[in-house]
Amino acid sequence: MRSQFVTKTGVIAATVGSAVGLGNIWRFPYEAGVHGGGAFLILYIVCVFLIGVPVLLAEFVMGRASRANGVGAYRRLAPRTPMRACAYMGILASLMILSFYSVVAGWIIEYLWQSIVDLFYHVTQAEYERQFDSFIANPWRSLGWTVGFLLINFLVLRRGVEKGIERISNLLMPLLFLLLIIFCVNSLMQPKAMEGVKFLFKPDFSQLSPSVVIGAMGQAFFSLSLGLTCMMTYASYFSDGTRLTRSASITAILDSLVAILAGLVIFPAVFSYGFEAAEGPKLVFEVLPAVFAKMPGGAYWAVAFFALLFFASLTSTISMSEISIAYFVEERKMKRTAASGLNTGICMVFGVLCAMSFGVLSDFTICGFTIFNLFDYVSSNILLPLGGIAISLTAGWIIDRNILWDQLTNDGHIRSTWVRPIRFCMRFVAPIAITIVFIYGLL
Ligand code: PFF
Repeated sequence: MRSQFVTKTGVIAATVGSAVGLGNIWRFPYEAGVHGGGAFLILYIVCVFLIGVPVLLAEFVMGRASRANGVGAYRRLAPRTPMRACAYMGILASLMILSFYSVVAGWIIEYLWQSIVDLFYHVTQAEYERQFDSFIANPWRSLGWTVGFLLINFLVLRRGVEKGIERISNLLMPLLFLLLIIFCVNSLMQPKAMEGVKFLFKPDFSQLSPSVVIGAMGQAFFSLSLGLTCMMTYASYFSDGTRLTRSASITAILDSLVAILAGLVIFPAVFSYGFEAAEGPKLVFEVLPAVFAKMPGGAYWAVAFFALLFFASLTSTISMSEISIAYFVEERKMKRTAASGLNTGICMVFGVLCAMSFGVLSDFTICGFTIFNLFDYVSSNILLPLGGIAISLTAGWIIDRNILWDQLTNDGHIRSTWVRPIRFCMRFVAPIAITIVFIYGLL
């Protein structure tokens, strides 16, 4: 029998554990910074609720109704349609994301280590930037941590989903949330905090451009782990009693809250300490040491925070690895250990290439992107939304209407008020909105 998440909080902890990670704390602030703040935030929130929640529900429905991995779910629920190709695209996207994500998770391990040995917090501000640059360009440290992170991920994966994740997420997610609130209060007390708050919340629509809109949609998909059958695979482990609409809304709300909190930690500090908001992927890694250095007992806060962020990254990478592992095990009849090994091996090769984009391969670009940026851009901004169109169309148009109804109401045990509007969003709103964003992006 397939394993299942055991408790109600286990389901929420696992989906929130997948959703909350570097996407909220590293990627959201840097994307918001690059794309001008307020206008990006509003578009991101609109994408989360207008597109993200319906696609999330579509993944939940397909996963639990089929009790299979992504490819298996399409085969069972939409047989003889070309939609299944999208599940393979999801596997590809998961491997791409895992590759560059592990590089950033490796940076977190380095920062955790630096915080433990307390090297960080005695240097002048100008040195934070230099320190980070020399670290990511150092072939051995950065590559070593990337490979190290993937090995840890492998060791957890070999044991199967339900044991580790429920326990880790249940305990650590609330702690991470609490720390973010404390840091947020600290940042808001800095001299130019209000400039940061304004940057994040006051939309300047003159900043609006196709890249902002595409970026906001990509961020919504990335942050909610959507469009690549990750949530579908997780939902295949849900019990029959799990309330899908409730789980989806809680996941979307908590995930957005964490991203906004991270923004409220970073941007007040950016303006108060004179950093550049549009710094890109390095932003958080330069600003956070400055934040900690100014807090009483900063090194302790830093250790606690980077340790929690490390676990948050791990619960996300476990979920994205589960996409290909469930496929290898169920469709290709591989042993779980071999499947986990294959997943890890592929990502090590690409992860190392991504890590080298900040050093020896920094001049190697494809269409103007380094390998790291290319993997990030193509997966989040193109593959995930395309997967989102396929998933919402499949749930809205192809699968039997009764399956959708049964899944959303738990076979009639809960109220069905929301079923019609949700189906409408799956059939029309989400696919049309994603298409419009794509077309606007091409202009
Ligand atoms: N949602 C995760 C984060 O915000 O860190 C990243 C992620 C996890 C993306 C799982 C995709 C995925 F399948």
